Amino acid sequence: MGERISVYEVGLRDGLQNEVAFVPTDEKLALAGMLADAGLRRIELTSFVSPRWIPQLADHAQVAARAPRRPGVVYSALVPNKLGLEGAKAAGLEEIAVFMSATEAHSKKNINKSVAEALAVLGEVTQAALAMGLRVRGYLSTVFGCPYEGPVDPARPHELVHQLLAMGVYEVSLGDTIGVGVPKQVREVVRRLETDVPLSKLALHMHDTRGTALANVLAGLDCGITTFDSAFGGLGGCPYAPGASGNLATEDLIYMLEGMGYDSGVSLDRLILASEHVSHLVGRTLPSKVLQSELGRRQQAEERAQRSGH
Ligand code: HMG
Ligand code: MG
Repeated sequence: MGERISVYEVGLRDGLQNEVAFVPTDEKLALAGMLADAGLRRIELTSFVSPRWIPQLADHAQVAARAPRRPGVVYSALVPNKLGLEGAKAAGLEEIAVFMSATEAHSKKNINKSVAEALAVLGEVTQAALAMGLRVRGYLSTVFGCPYEGPVDPARPHELVHQLLAMGVYEVSLGDTIGVGVPKQVREVVRRLETDVPLSKLALHMHDTRGTALANVLAGLDCGITTFDSAFGGLGGCPYAPGASGNLATEDLIYMLEGMGYDSGVSLDRLILASEHVSHLVGRTLPSKVLQSELGRRQQAEERAQRSGH
């Protein structure tokens, strides 16, 4: 068995929050079950945010309460404030994710708060969640570039990662929110952080807007990162970050990792079933290369069978 890599699945949250179509609650529940059956062990289900801001996830309480529980599968949800925390707790979740931006302009657009205000709220939410016995993951957005402020000095995320860890989050996921990062930058950010942060407390959350997500993961792997966020089918984006289309596709990540001898515990065939299903639900072709190649292979096989009269 190869070295274990942890894949954190965000499609039902980061993916669906950005789709025009509202996926019915029962379909979201079925998809959660399909992802768990594919071997994913860390699944972000939804966001306990304002339904006015993210209407696609307005059914968060139902989804979190009714997602099929499986041994070894940890479900989580995004939480912006105490109201969200109470909802997540009432729905029976054991883990939440708090989120903030490394840049002021994105912070204002995304949560209507400055970075300092966000830190104060996240501190309170994290403390309350830990007191309730929940695990808390942290996200830091716009680490590799901001849609409003442009390039980001790596000193900024470095300082904020420390503040998030000091609050008590068990891991900080570094977000390339609008998919502008390149491998050299990933190496710079990670090498700077590893001087005083254990790599086991960091994850990479790459959007594939410009096709660099997998290359960025490889740079992270080479630096010793072992946790990566991705979305089945390559669903995803951020509605308050123009251009943030598509998270790294989980299939593409798994294909590369398994091919390199890492062990993800995920069945590609089963994952593809979930992606095909969600593709019908959102009514569009999804960007995952592995998914497209599988669909193309099947179509060719069908055409061959038809030509030969079977
Ligand atoms: P606000 O308007 O400043 O706050 O929004 P508010 O406290 O005045 O509340 C406004 C309304 O929202 C009120 O309702 C509240 O009850 C309600 P009203 O009285 O107007 O009817 N509300 C809530 N409802 C349900 N659940 C809650 C909640 N809190 C307040 N928890 C707020 C502030 C944070 C609520 C708002 O800005 C918001 O919901 N933002 C969500 C933004 C979001 O979800 N963005 C996408 C996720 S982040 C992301 O995708 C990046 C990531 O993937 C990493 C990366 O890629 O880098 C994580
Ligand atoms: Mg994201």
